[in-house]
This record gives sequence, structure tokens and C-alpha cells, in this order.
Amino acid sequence: MPKIQSLQPFAAVIVAAGKGSRSGQSRPKQFVTWRGKPLLRHSAEALVQAGASPLVVAIPESTEGFGYDALSGLTGVRFVRGGETRQQSVRIALDEMQDDKPNFVLIHDAARPDLPIEVIQRLVAALDKHPAAIPVLPMVDSLVIESAGMMAGKGDRDILKRVQTPQAFRFNEILSAHHAWKGAPDAGDDAQVACQAGLPVALVEGDERLRKLTFAGDFMEDLAPIRVGTGFDVHRLGKGEELWLCGVHIEHDVGLVGHSDADVATHALVDSLLGAIGAGDIGMHFPPSDSRWKDAPSSAFLQYATKLVAKAGYRIGNVDLTILCENPRIGPYREAMRAKLSEIMGVDIGAVSVKATTTERLGFAGRGEGIAAQASATLLRTV
Ligand code: CTP
Ligand code: MG
Repeated sequence: MPKIQSLQPFAAVIVAAGKGSRSGQSRPKQFVTWRGKPLLRHSAEALVQAGASPLVVAIPESTEGFGYDALSGLTGVRFVRGGETRQQSVRIALDEMQDDKPNFVLIHDAARPDLPIEVIQRLVAALDKHPAAIPVLPMVDSLVIESAGMMAGKGDRDILKRVQTPQAFRFNEILSAHHAWKGAPDAGDDAQVACQAGLPVALVEGDERLRKLTFAGDFMEDLAPIRVGTGFDVHRLGKGEELWLCGVHIEHDVGLVGHSDADVATHALVDSLLGAIGAGDIGMHFPPSDSRWKDAPSSAFLQYATKLVAKAGYRIGNVDLTILCENPRIGPYREAMRAKLSEIMGVDIGAVSVKATTTERLGFAGRGEGIAAQASATLLRTV
């Protein structure tokens, strides 16, 4: 990406000190991997490549390591510990760069990773004439005023705009404005702080790509529409054991040996679901070393994997299972197995296939020493 040669030099702040509490992620959202990189890194790279210097990044206390890792190797970046609110995080970052005496500063949310250079250019250009400039987008829907669940009037979408970041300011003026801020502890953005201090704020065209990632669903938009997983498992046959296959109990002279109920078919199916969402394998989630899973019904593992699938933004499209054994014959149990699995996973029976094959008396399955099962699953995106 080219540097902005013809425009004034500018400094930048990225606020990345929030908790991301609405995002449903396992760490603050600015540090999760999104399109192959930590979220924070996307806009940091865009700003550095556009010529921002210095770039001061506010990160949360006690997760500093994530911040350093996220921006490793990026030049001209400095970190500060953020504050309780976004407004405080901005003020702390602006204070830190006072000695650099920048003329202009762009202030940006880490939660808006996709930052097009054109927006930076429009903002920096606007600072030639105005002390502050912000990117806005039109409202496309009509607006209503709500009162207790009822429409109480109409809003005027022609005069209301959606506001994004980065927001651009003459440095000294936004610094003073932040120090003078006496409004709500959490000002939504810096334009409000500037406006309160009497600065005229110019509006430039924003960009849909700059949308803010806020909720769990926002992190799932890039998921593949279909995913596929495979699973394979083997259990030994032994005397005095029960035989469970696909959640169905089978009367047989030998049964499968294992820590749980050793339902080899269900285990293969669970692995195919976990595999499809990249969530490891059954042993990771239910280690045999854990006494909780002693004699556990494998239906519980399948229920759990189904929940993980839903949490990852998918539903089961179809599953296909093959059981490899000489005995017992699976045919008489096939429909009961399909019904049981479809009930556990909450899918239509038509989406569940159970097949069986012998191995022509070859190998461990052929000699009746054990039973193997393999499964494949397709998942369909729900978000
Ligand atoms: N932010 C910050 N310091 C805070 C609070 C927020 O630097 N004390 C930053 C966030 O990291 C984010 C931006 O401000 O980049 C916009 O805030 P928001 O989207 O609300 O993020 P979070 O506050 O982290 O999320 P949530 O409100 O869901 O907890
Ligand atoms: Mg917040």
C-alpha cells in the first residue's frame, strides 16, 4: 500500500483496551484471529502503511502479551495501558504522544479491522480545512421512535448518519477537548468530545467495510458455507462386555472394551463433527484418564459435539457412518440406529446414514478381535 505522500504527516491512536464482553470470544475480541491475523493487526498495518507515525495502541491491563504478539515486527508502534472507558483509553494514548507534537491524529477502534486507505485519505485531506473530520454513512432503513414497544413517531433518516472510525483531529485541539470532557464517562466516540468542546466536525464519506465487530455473529460472517469432517475409531471386542453401537444396545456374545460404553460408531461420528469445526478430537474433550467418563453413554459425547457445532455457527447437514465388522449383522438394527442418532443430534432421520461392511474375514475386524467405524459429516453455516 503506498504512503500518503501528498498529505500532511499524521499520528494515530488505536484503542484496543476493551473487554469485548458482547463478542462471545475466549479472549478480548481485538486479539482473536480474524481473516488469518489478530483483529488488531489489520487496522494497525493499514495505518502504518498509510504513514501514521507514531502509532500508539491502548491495550488492556493483564493481557499485554496478546497486544505485543499481535503487533510484533510492526515498526513505529508504542503501547499504553488503556483506561476504564474508551474515552479514558483515548486520553491516555493522546497524553503519551504529546512530546511527538504531531499536527494531526487519527483515532481508531481496533474493533473495526478492515480500514480502507481511501477513508484515511479523505480524513487527512479534510483536516486541511477543518479541525475535525469523521467518516459517516447514510441510514438506509426508515426510522421510528419507539415507546414501550409501540411506534411513537418517525425519525428523519435524511439528517441522521451512522458514525465510524478512524476520526481525524488537529492534535492539540482534541487533546484539550478530551481533558475538558465532562460528559458521560463513556463517550461513544471522539466526535462527541470534539463537538462538546465547540470544534466544528466535518463529515466525510465512510465505508461499509469499516463496520465494527461487536457480537459473536459478527465474527462468523467469514465462515465457509459448508464444512466437512471425518472420523475413525476402533475398539477391541471382549467377553463380559456390553455391545453398544450408534446408541443402540445389541444382544451379542461379546462386547466392546473401553473406558466409556465403547460405542465405536458414535465415537467416529463425534470425531467427524469435531473435525468439521476444527475442534480437536473426542479424546481431547473426554480424556479416558478422567473418571467422569467411566462407563459414560456415548450419546452424551454426541450431544456435546452437536452443541459445539451449533456454537461454531453450523448445523448438521448430513452424516454417513460405516461400521466394519464380521458380527453382529448390522442390518436388523440399522433403522433403530438411524432413529437414535437423529434423535440425539436433533436432525431429520433422512440426514443420517448407517452402513456396514465386513472385511472379508481379513484383519482384526475379520478375525472378530474388534470393530472399526468411520464417519463423515457435512455442516451447513447457520449465520
Ligand atoms: N475500548 C478501549 N478501552 C475501553 C473500552 C473500549 O480501548 N475501556 C476500545 C475497544 O477495544 C474497541 C473500541 O474501544 O476497539 C470500541 O469499543 P467496543 O466495540 O464497545 O469494544 P469493547 O468495549 O471491547 O466491547 P464490549 O463493549 O462488548 O465489552
Ligand atoms: Mg464497549
